[in-house]
Amino acid sequence: MSQLHVINHPMIQHKLTIMRKKETGSKDFRQLLNEISLLMGYEVTRDIPLEPVEIETPICPMKAAKVSGRKLAIVPILRAGMGMVDGLQMLVPVARVGHIGLYRDENTHKPVVYYCKLPEDIQDRLVIVTDPMLATGGSACDALEMLKKRGCNNIRLMCLVGAPEGIAKVQAEHPDVDIYLAAVDERLNENAYIVPGLGDAGDRIFGTK
Ligand code: PRP
Ligand code: URA
Repeated sequence: MSQLHVINHPMIQHKLTIMRKKETGSKDFRQLLNEISLLMGYEVTRDIPLEPVEIETPICPMKAAKVSGRKLAIVPILRAGMGMVDGLQMLVPVARVGHIGLYRDENTHKPVVYYCKLPEDIQDRLVIVTDPMLATGGSACDALEMLKKRGCNNIRLMCLVGAPEGIAKVQAEHPDVDIYLAAVDERLNENAYIVPGLGDAGDRIFGTK
C-alpha cells in the first residue's frame, strides 16, 4: 500500500490558506505555489541516499556528503502541474523535466491526453509527478500509468490539495506510488471539484478565467 504523507508544516498551511482565498490573484497564487513546492520538496526528497565525497574546504580536506545514485525527473501534469516545477527545481537544479498534457473533459470529468514528452532515460530516474489538485484521481492515475508503460518503477506523486476519492483511487491503482499532499479536503462536489479546495488551479495560475 502506498503511503500518504500530509505535510502540515505551519508555513505550508499558512501559505495554502492564502492560496485558497478567492481574492488572491494569479501573481501571488503562483508565487505561493512555488514556495510551497520547494518546502514540500524537502519531504519528497527526504530519503534520497547520500554518498561520501572527498572535498577540500579552505581549511582542510574532508569527507563530505553528496546525493548519490538515481537521478531525478520532475513530470508536471499540464497545465497546473507546471506551477510546482520552479520550486522543485530550486531544490534540485539538475533534475530533468518531462511533460504530460491531460485535461478533464468538462462533462465526463475523465482525463484526455494531448501531450507526452519525457526524458529519454526516464525509466532510470526517480520521478516526481506534480499536480496541485488530486480530485477524482483520474488524471494522476492516467499519468502514472503512462510513466509505468515507459518503464518507470520509482515514482512519487506530489500534489497540494487532495480529495479522499482521488487518494483512494491512486492508492488502489498504484499501491507502489507514495502520495505527498499539503491538505486532505472534505469531498468532491457535483462537478468533481474539491470542497473547500481552491477552485480551478490551472485558471488561477495562468489567469485564464
Ligand atoms: C485539473 C488539475 C488536475 C485535474 C484533477 O486539471 O490540475 O490535473 O484537474 O482532477 P482529477 O483528479 O479529477 O483528474 P484540468 O483538467 O482542469 O486541466 P488544466 O490543468 O489544464 O487546467
Ligand atoms: N481541478 C481543479 O483545478 N480543481 C479542482 O477542485 C478539481 C479539479
